[in-house]
Amino acid sequence: MPIFNDLNLENWKDSEIWTDSLWIISERDKSGKHDGFYHGNFVPQIPRQLILRYTKKDEVVFDPFVGSGTTAYEAETFGRHFIGIDIQKNLVEQVKSKVDNKKYFSEIILGDSSKNTTFDKVSETLKKQNKENISLAILHPPYADIIKFSNLKDDLSNAKSLKEFLEGFSLVLKNTISILEKSRYLAIVIGDKYTAGQWIPLGFYCMNEAQKLGLTLKSIIIKNMEGNRAKQNKEGIWRYRALSSDYYIFKHEYILIFKK
Ligand SMILES: C[S@@+](CC[C@H](N)C(=O)[O-])C[C@H]1O[C@@H](n2cnc3c(N)ncnc32)[C@H](O)[C@@H]1O
Repeated sequence: MPIFNDLNLENWKDSEIWTDSLWIISERDKSGKHDGFYHGNFVPQIPRQLILRYTKKDEVVFDPFVGSGTTAYEAETFGRHFIGIDIQKNLVEQVKSKVDNKKYFSEIILGDSSKNTTFDKVSETLKKQNKENISLAILHPPYADIIKFSNLKDDLSNAKSLKEFLEGFSLVLKNTISILEKSRYLAIVIGDKYTAGQWIPLGFYCMNEAQKLGLTLKSIIIKNMEGNRAKQNKEGIWRYRALSSDYYIFKHEYILIFKK
């Protein structure tokens, strides 16, 4: 029996946990505190699956790219504590004002996740809450410069090159691994990009950074990417462009699962 979750395997046939490596998610869950306003967020079903599969009640979930707080609200719903970081003040304030913080604590920290000083604040929170470490990390970084999240210099979406982006991301990974309990899990949610006529396998580069830091790769999950283009009725234009050229349209992202 796994010791890293609360799943009841007596009813395993009825389990809502996905165990295939292909996740086709047809609709964003907009229930509860999720309003989907943030361009570049992920669907709540992603952190939900990871939290239920890889944590037990009362453990701490961590997200160093908190954005609109999708992971925070899922942690709260399922009775897990939460610590998150984002570099944008308005987002941190907004998520802070929405989390409940009654039975399970939720600390949202303003800072740069690649800096040790920001992680000093994470360690202070853990100490204050009598927790030794985090039990699951979910990382959903900018996909390099595809979406510019802010004008802040240390925002990873403003990295001047792929090399600089990967160096910054590696520092976030290193900091995160330092507070992750041994034998527990870290997930990276990431997509690729296309620049100057070339497919840039950002997902695999990020996977490589995690492996260089000693994490064990457990799964590569492919998730479908529907949404923006369809919403904007741009599917046709993209198909025409692809047919008249030599490339395929991005339809997938990765959820990479690692064990410490
Ligand atoms: C892809 S979004 C995360 C979205 C989030 N999963 C959600 O559902 O709303 C990436 C986030 O990383 C933040 N970010 C970028 N660079 C950062 C850094 N160095 N430290 C902390 N946060 C950073 C951005 O402000 C942005 O909100």
